[in-house]
Amino acid sequence: MILDEELFKRKANLSSIDKMFRTLSQRVWPSRTVVVRQKHTLPDLPYDYNALEPVISAEIMQLHHQKHHQTYVNSLNQAEEKFMEAKEKNDLKTMIALTPQLRFNGGGHINHSILWQNYFPKGGEPEGDLLKAIDANFGSFDTMKNGLSSSAVSLQGSGWTWLGYNKSTNSLAIATCANQDPLEPTTGLVPLLGIDVWEHAYYLQYKSVRADYVKNIFKIINWKDVADRLATARQ
Ligand SMILES: [Fe+2]
Repeated sequence: MILDEELFKRKANLSSIDKMFRTLSQRVWPSRTVVVRQKHTLPDLPYDYNALEPVISAEIMQLHHQKHHQTYVNSLNQAEEKFMEAKEKNDLKTMIALTPQLRFNGGGHINHSILWQNYFPKGGEPEGDLLKAIDANFGSFDTMKNGLSSSAVSLQGSGWTWLGYNKSTNSLAIATCANQDPLEPTTGLVPLLGIDVWEHAYYLQYKSVRADYVKNIFKIINWKDVADRLATARQ
């Protein structure tokens, strides 16, 4: 009985100490929130570097993925780190100064992450709801393909041509973005299929003949991935 009472007292004592510590913590760190920022990482390719040959050489794929995309990821993480530091200090000028870096490297990461999924070694042609949407918006698959191709070939400088989805009109559209500007934050269109017309995507193999690169790209499009993106965007 004495032991029980002693045990009760000790428990009560521990509980009051714990309560006191919590109260003290709240006074010392009233609204302290620890935010653990997850860094962006380079996604794996869903196929080998040589899987898209002869359309895109293994050398280009490896450089494009391991060097170019990795650089966007690294630079994005650095810019985000600086942005968070500036935000912590309420340093608005630095935050604003960092937005071009976030846009360029964040766009590069977003765009290439989609691009790797848009490719598939065996290619094919669109079908089902995707084909219906293409027919409804462009008249035929060939018309859409020609529109996308001429847009990609004629884009001046570095950038991307996209087949995108307009949620407000439930329609497909072709759009181009300069540099690494990401499609949705720039135009509002949901990206379905991207053609990267930066020289790093084709120059080692096609030299200055961008038209041949764009023509051949259609042999390795993962139309199921494009259809899945459309289905998700329509939900
Ligand atoms: Fe690229």
